[in-house]
Amino acid sequence: MCGIVGYIGSKPAGDIIIDGLRRLEYRGYDSAGIAVLQDRAIELRRSVGKLSALVKALESNAVRGTVGIGHTRWATHGRPCEENAHPHTDCTGKIVVVHNGIIENYLELKKQLQQSGHVFKSETDTEVIAHLVEARFNGDLLQAVQGALAQVRGAYALGVIAADEPGRIIVARRDAPLIIGLGEGENFLASDIPALLPYTRRMVFLEEGDLAAISADKVVIYNSGGETVVRKEHSIAWDAVQAEKGGYKHFMLKEIFEQPQAIQDTFRGRLSPEDGAINLDGATLPAEAVRQLSKIYIVACGTSYHAGLVGKFLFENLARIPVEVDIASEFRYRSPVLDKNAVAIVISQSGETADTLAALRLSKQGKCPVIAVCNAIGSTVSREADATLYTRCGPEIGVASTKAFTGQLTALYLLAFDWAGKRGTLTGDTLLRLIRELWEVPGKVSEALKSSDTMRSLAKEFSQARDFLYLGRNINYPVALEGALKLKEISYIHAEGYPAGEMKHGPIALIDEDMPVMVVATAGKVYEKILGNIEEAQARGGTIIAVATEGDEAIKSKTSHHVFVPHVDELFSPIINVVPLQLFSYHMAVQRGCDVDQPRNLAKSVTVE
Ligand code: M6R
Repeated sequence: MCGIVGYIGSKPAGDIIIDGLRRLEYRGYDSAGIAVLQDRAIELRRSVGKLSALVKALESNAVRGTVGIGHTRWATHGRPCEENAHPHTDCTGKIVVVHNGIIENYLELKKQLQQSGHVFKSETDTEVIAHLVEARFNGDLLQAVQGALAQVRGAYALGVIAADEPGRIIVARRDAPLIIGLGEGENFLASDIPALLPYTRRMVFLEEGDLAAISADKVVIYNSGGETVVRKEHSIAWDAVQAEKGGYKHFMLKEIFEQPQAIQDTFRGRLSPEDGAINLDGATLPAEAVRQLSKIYIVACGTSYHAGLVGKFLFENLARIPVEVDIASEFRYRSPVLDKNAVAIVISQSGETADTLAALRLSKQGKCPVIAVCNAIGSTVSREADATLYTRCGPEIGVASTKAFTGQLTALYLLAFDWAGKRGTLTGDTLLRLIRELWEVPGKVSEALKSSDTMRSLAKEFSQARDFLYLGRNINYPVALEGALKLKEISYIHAEGYPAGEMKHGPIALIDEDMPVMVVATAGKVYEKILGNIEEAQARGGTIIAVATEGDEAIKSKTSHHVFVPHVDELFSPIINVVPLQLFSYHMAVQRGCDVDQPRNLAKSVTVE
């Protein structure tokens, strides 16, 4: 939530910062701003709305200078308007701050600062930081920021520059991500990796409570105790091109079509279809610990939570371990019974989701080991977990998560196979058969992607619907939830995901000719039951769109609208069945003229509670 970019070197800072912000716009897009230092003066530009508005403003009023910071905002405190857009300044306009996070005690601090004469120009929590730094600044920006942060409570990733100390940017982080990019005679800062990929692959991830002074030729990092520390430099293999649209109209569509590759990359080198060997390289539990496991908690938010719901079926069916799946914002406020014989699996694409992180920390406090399934290398979740099984999806830019979901499912198959093997709950032959089936999944996903044209036609027909019901059963109930979430978030149509068998206990009352019903009805042990549910919905006037298995003549004759996907073992059906649902929501959003990659009110990475 909110994206920060900074640059110090010898090139025009404005261009680099705007380019980086463009790559971070998925983190927030209700206003944007930039501050650049030139001749010991700050040039500040801010605009309401998307980054394009700022770019337009800069065309007629450019910034010059080789040091600067920029921000793209997702509003928490204060409505989206120019005054509330970052960067924020102190009373003199010489100290400038960009911030991602929430300062919890800002009202109290603001009152104190106002009493001592500081004049505030915005409604934001961030502005207190600029004034706190101003109150302490006597030529040493590092010390002033250190002192200011000692007074604040809350979450922050921030960048600060001062007109009177033009040679460095001071940055700090606590409970919000911040990365330093290392260059030759230049250095960078950003909230997330994609912002810096065209400039450097050498990145340092700041840790909780770190503060750093960044100049063109040097980066000095201090820990929360004020001691100088060296943080590991990572070399990022992601390709800058992966963070571009590459000929697709939207990132979401590109990412949907990248799924076969993302799935394959996630399992490649980790299991062998020849002999069934599984090697998760430490991103799992030792055999003895797996045998002792009494329970698995899977905790996540949004789409990652839906992946977790599928995970429950996998671990219970294959490894015979009881599983509880929790939404992270609920888990953190209940009192889960945690101990060392349980394990928490936290799932997060970004690795920065505040609630998921809180759940991770709660689990660790309860002595419960934590395994993360995560996409973002070096993210907070991946650093704090006891082990991380990375999905290898590359950067996911579209706010609606797609390839991260199927990557997460792949990682959960790997873990479930590994644990079933260690517990001996599957015979070697069965395990080998499943591993070979997983090997075939990328090809089947490619087949399922061919449903795009059908989904486009269906979207044309149903684009004016106001409500949608999504039904699924058993391992495909989470797929119904995920399909409904996709539709809601990018086309703003009310959609509810429901277990099909539960329909008659309430939602059936909603069904009439104005309520289309999307049913996941592929082959499997509840297929006959689903056919029954389809009949029930049709008897109430509902129009069914069925996702069915290729060659299913019964569905063809029973439903007026259907789409076919290739046959797979039921265990793998979620990873295939979700594809037409993703495509449907994409085409619906396009039909309705919605902003697919940047839906209203949302941000890609939810770093505040
Ligand atoms: O980065 P995370 O996986 O932790 O994010 C969790 C959710 O915020 C995310 O899946 C969200 O629901 C997406 N917008 C869904 O498309």
